[in-house]
Amino acid sequence: MQLLKTIRGVEVPALGFGTWPLKGPDCREAVTDALRIGYRHVDTARMYVNEVAVGQGIRDSQVPREEIFLTTKLWNTELAGGKVTEALHDSLRSLHTDYVDLLLIHWPDKKVPLAETLNAMQKHQQEGKVRQIGVSNFPPGLLREALRHAPVFCNQVEYHPYLSQEGLLEICRESDVLLTAYSPIAHGAVMEEESLRQIGEKYGKSPVQITLRWLISQEQVAAIPKASGTERRRQNFDIFDFELTREEMDQIHGLARGKRLINPAWSPVW
Ligand SMILES: NC(=O)c1ccc[n+]([C@@H]2O[C@H](COP(=O)([O-])OP(=O)(O)OC[C@H]3O[C@@H](n4cnc5c(N)ncnc54)[C@H](OP(=O)(O)O)[C@@H]3O)[C@@H](O)[C@H]2O)c1
Repeated sequence: MQLLKTIRGVEVPALGFGTWPLKGPDCREAVTDALRIGYRHVDTARMYVNEVAVGQGIRDSQVPREEIFLTTKLWNTELAGGKVTEALHDSLRSLHTDYVDLLLIHWPDKKVPLAETLNAMQKHQQEGKVRQIGVSNFPPGLLREALRHAPVFCNQVEYHPYLSQEGLLEICRESDVLLTAYSPIAHGAVMEEESLRQIGEKYGKSPVQITLRWLISQEQVAAIPKASGTERRRQNFDIFDFELTREEMDQIHGLARGKRLINPAWSPVW
């Protein structure tokens, strides 16, 4: 059975489905299939240019909208107050929904004061078009700053066994913020990790499944792996029938070596 995380009194399915870089009919079918498998948390973004397909996938699945935790993200050019409103309305139209469960700032951007963006997002939260607001790719200092301005629900960041997020997790636990792990299986690289293979042998699970279980077993952590085919989507969801020991959790934490996969030119100082 899916594990739920409770953040600020709101339940979020710990395992979500990532949709980047799926597009068009592939994305539509992938979302429908993921929902049929049992995923109830879907991640998209304005920048992925797949919100229409995600919305169609949700409708095709016939899963009631209120059962799905749906996230989208504002792109860097949409952070000024008026642009937030325009972008959100476009997302709602594209996704064919009255609200998103979570609206994130995709990347921090110094060109617009953080308070201006967060205030605009909060206005839409009060209207009910956005249930929760949050950030993505915010390092510790910026997350603290965002928390001074608004009730940040989530920080979505790269997190997998090769990249520790200890500092951010401490703040997330202090301030009841969800840390959503993107690139959670390091783009599949964990498949080659011998220690994960050995742990997996004990449970009859693959290194990917061990990694996803490790992530969602941590306090405040959710994960959003992406897979193009149904078989992998099923495998990635098949992680709720076993638990790792404290020693195994620590052993996986020990694999961290500062390996960052997503680091575009506009990244903040991590
Ligand atoms: N906020 C941000 O800035 C940000 C940045 C990056 C990503 N994201 C979000 O996070 C989601 C996931 O991140 P990601 O796509 O970068 O990385 P990921 O989920 O770590 O890795 C996806 C890759 O792993 C492969 N894979 C999936 N399941 C597998 C399995 N069971 N065995 C072996 N290989 C497997 C996939 O291949 P196939 O597809 O061929 O199956 C794909 O190449 C994205 O889709 C997006 O929604 C957010």
